[in-house]
Amino acid sequence: MYKISVITEDDFEVTFECPPSEDIISAGVGSDVILLSSCHEGGCATCKAECLEGEYELGRCSVQALPPDEEEASKVLLCRTYPRSDLVIRVPYTFERISFQKANTDWQGEIVAVEKIASNVAKLQIEPKDLETGMAVQIPFLAGQYLDIEIPGTGTSRCYSMATIDDDPSLDFLIRILPDGRFSQFLSSEAVPGVVMKLRGPFGGFNIRENGLRARYFVAGGTGLAPVLSMIRYMKREQHPQEAKLFFGVTHQHEVFYLAELKKLEAEMPNLKVYVTVMKPDSDWQGCTGTVVDELIKQLRDAKVKPDIYLCGPPAMIDATFAAAATCGVPKEQVYVEKFLASGAAVAAE
Ligand SMILES: Cc1cc2nc3c(=O)[nH]c(=O)nc-3n(C[C@H](O)[C@H](O)[C@H](O)COP(=O)(O)OP(=O)(O)OC[C@H]3O[C@@H](n4cnc5c(N)ncnc54)[C@H](O)[C@@H]3O)c2cc1C
Ligand code: FES
Repeated sequence: MYKISVITEDDFEVTFECPPSEDIISAGVGSDVILLSSCHEGGCATCKAECLEGEYELGRCSVQALPPDEEEASKVLLCRTYPRSDLVIRVPYTFERISFQKANTDWQGEIVAVEKIASNVAKLQIEPKDLETGMAVQIPFLAGQYLDIEIPGTGTSRCYSMATIDDDPSLDFLIRILPDGRFSQFLSSEAVPGVVMKLRGPFGGFNIRENGLRARYFVAGGTGLAPVLSMIRYMKREQHPQEAKLFFGVTHQHEVFYLAELKKLEAEMPNLKVYVTVMKPDSDWQGCTGTVVDELIKQLRDAKVKPDIYLCGPPAMIDATFAAAATCGVPKEQVYVEKFLASGAAVAAE
């Protein structure tokens, strides 16, 4: 048995034991220490942490979830980390995010509506229900988190981030339609009001951080808008005073969605400014052109105090934005990221 010491972002320490044959997440669960995790197969990066001391062996991980340079820098996926000595591990979240008893993560949800809102995006609205009684419930979640949603009768599930907040009557998801995608096909053919689906979660550590009055910039590519919209809606409900800027980008004009919702939020929140950018616009486009990164750089150059940046979307956009933020002097600790990794990424890496 090895001793595992987990140090949180706010410098609390939690310890438990782990045998060499078990991964850290499972050993934590066995000792009633529930650390953040989701896929448990090295594919989603929810359990990413840094090993400060000790020897370990890593099981197979997706390169997207744990790129080689991060592996070199002692980053680990705890669901794939097997100790070979006592370990000291730093997790990128606060003590309150660790639970000490297993919370309910199994739910069901009834589809209320499915609507195509752009050429490649559908909005899925689900009413959450208790798994046993079937009664309507509110799933407690933090703005920015996601659920695993199962395609009925298949055992296949996908992760989707809520665009709503926890006291809204329905869970709204913004889902990119991929031509050969399994969930995408389900949405186009079988997903109709009344269909009941299994839900699991909430998961994820992509949430608003309390960093005083520092401004918050939200950068979203395509359906990456979902979790940042949830955060902005949360800021509105809680009347957070921080200056907020939303940079929302797509490639083609026919991929733009939620313009009216974003304008309404901007009108209702005096501290919010929204920039919608289209990379290849039609001649009648009135908004910003180029990429979200172009627009972000312009704003960052003018910012006297560097803001916190919340970043979500496909991996390539994230990498470009991360690099731009660094060039503009934003410390990397102030950039919080959610990558919409493709399903099966861990399996593909094996
Ligand atoms: C934490 C997390 C949160 C997520 N939240 C959202 C969300 O809110 N909205 C959303 O739209 N997606 C989100 N995703 C991605 C989502 O889980 C699915 O991977 C995606 O919707 C594809 O599912 P599918 O079944 O339609 O396609 P699949 O059957 O999984 O894939 C079909 C084909 O498309 C490829 N592919 C898969 N994803 C992508 C991609 N992003 N870009 C290009 N090719 C791809 C696959 O490799 C495969 O070849 C999230 C992912 C993670 C890890
Ligand atoms: S829970 Fe470890 S990578 Fe998904």
